[in-house]
This record gives sequence, structure tokens and C-alpha cells, in this order.
Amino acid sequence: MPTNKLNDLDPKTWLKFQKSWFIHNPPPRKKGTLVHPAKFPETMAQEFIEFFTKRGQTVLDPMAGTGSALVAALRAGRNSYGVELNPKYAEIAKQIIADERATLGEAIVNLKSEIVNGDAAQITNYQLPIIDYVLTSPPYWDMLRARGADTQKKRRSSADLDVFYSDDPNDLGNVDDYEAFLAKLVEIYRGFKPLLREKAYLTIIVKNVKKGGKIYPLAWDIARELGKTYTLKDEKIWMQDNQSLAPYGLNSAWVSNTFHHYCLQFRNE
Ligand SMILES: C[S@@+](CC[C@H](N)C(=O)[O-])C[C@H]1O[C@@H](n2cnc3c(N)ncnc32)[C@H](O)[C@@H]1O
Repeated sequence: MPTNKLNDLDPKTWLKFQKSWFIHNPPPRKKGTLVHPAKFPETMAQEFIEFFTKRGQTVLDPMAGTGSALVAALRAGRNSYGVELNPKYAEIAKQIIADERATLGEAIVNLKSEIVNGDAAQITNYQLPIIDYVLTSPPYWDMLRARGADTQKKRRSSADLDVFYSDDPNDLGNVDDYEAFLAKLVEIYRGFKPLLREKAYLTIIVKNVKKGGKIYPLAWDIARELGKTYTLKDEKIWMQDNQSLAPYGLNSAWVSNTFHHYCLQFRNE
């Protein structure tokens, strides 16, 4: 067997992860993380981190939300850094990470897990170390602000749950022009190139978005645009099969119930 340069997995687990799609139904969310309208599951993040890094390496989520990638990194024995614009989410993330560290105890005392409350566009000013892997998910354009956004209907009736991220003008979820949003997002992703180790992978979890009766191919646009800076390696499709179907367009038009996300793989080479 040649030496495994990428991760600590056995060949069977490695091969299993290489399938181009997977089903992952998130376990129920922990108290605190519910406030945030769009987080990815820590259990899924851990699988990505364990594939794309070795123990002791360093993971970055430049839009960290309530810190799922950092919690997953701790569980996987990796160092991690996160940047989050919204002070409320940054605080929740810090608390969740502190709780996770307490639970994991001695085994992870030497690992770093730090959240910076700041703008990802300024990431090179935050004195971060060299990063071995980026795992992140952007705002899906301004979809959380769209009145009829399917996932947000239940949340609107609860005063404690956020429906959108913030009113901060630097929050990408507030850019209403699609092309401007895409350009800003790609600029942010390009901006952290100096922090990345040569050959580091990046995974961006994203969906194409539906607005005003048409699709804006956000995942495909990121793939094409960011592929000019990093090598676009692949996609892996995350499917959820525990969601309720809604009768959009019933008897008149094709409107899908979209229960898949693209996990886009890039490499810094
Ligand atoms: C899809 S959510 C990320 C959720 C995160 N993966 C988790 O599991 O908690 C996108 C996040 O980007 C943050 N955000 C938006 N614009 C930002 C910016 N310019 N810099 C840093 N964070 C930003 C939002 O506040 C939101 O928490």
C-alpha cells in the first residue's frame, strides 16, 4: 500500500466517500443552533474533514455561522478557525465550541478552535495560520429574504428564530443583485488563497436557487468562476430524503421540491 498522504482513513472508508452522492439526514439540532436559519450538520462536516485532512491539521470556515465545521473539526481531532460576520452567531458558535471542548475533555486540549467575529472579505487581516482545508457554505444569495421561501415559513411564526442572517451591508445575504452577489462571493473565496497550503482542498456546499419562477444556477456559477482560481475537481451531491413534499405548481407547472445540495470540491494547485 502506498503511503496515505491525504487523510487517516482505511481504504474501505476512503472508497466509500468517493461515491459522487450521499444521503445525509441531519440529526435533530441542538438548542442554540436553531436560531440560525441555515446550518449544515456537524456529523456530515466531520466526514468531509476526515477525508480531506489528517489529524492535527487545520480547517477554516470563512462564514462559520454557529460553528458546525469547528465542532466537527474538534470531534475529528483537527484545529479549526471560523470567521462569522453576525456577532450573535459568533457568540453562539463560541459557546457551542466551549461546550464541545468541555465534553471532549483532555483528548483535545492541544487543539485550537477559534471564532473571529468579522468580515470574510478581510480574512487576511485576522492573522490566521496556514490552512489545510476549507469547508464552508455561503448565504444562498438573498433567498432567506424572499417572502415565499419554502424553508422559512414555519420560522416566521417564531419570535426566537431568525428568518434571515442580519441587516449588515457586508452580509452577502443582503446583496439583491445576483451578479453582484456572485462577484462578491467569489472575490471572498479568492481572497483567502494566500492562507491556503499548496494542494489544500476546498469544499463549498451550495444549492442552485429558485426565485421569481426561474433558477439562478449559483452552484454552477461558483464552479465556473472559482474554477479560474482553484482547480475544480468534482462535485458530490448531498441528498436529503426526510423532507416533506410541498404541492408547488400542482396541476399547472413543473416546480421541483429541491432536496439536494452540491458539495463542490476545489484544490489549491
Ligand atoms: C449558510 S450560513 C453558514 C452556516 C454554517 N456553515 C453553520 O453550519 O452554522 C452563511 C453564513 O455566512 C455569514 N456571512 C454572510 N456574509 C458574511 C461575510 N461577509 N463575512 C463572514 N460571514 C458572513 C452569515 O451570517 C451566515 O451565518
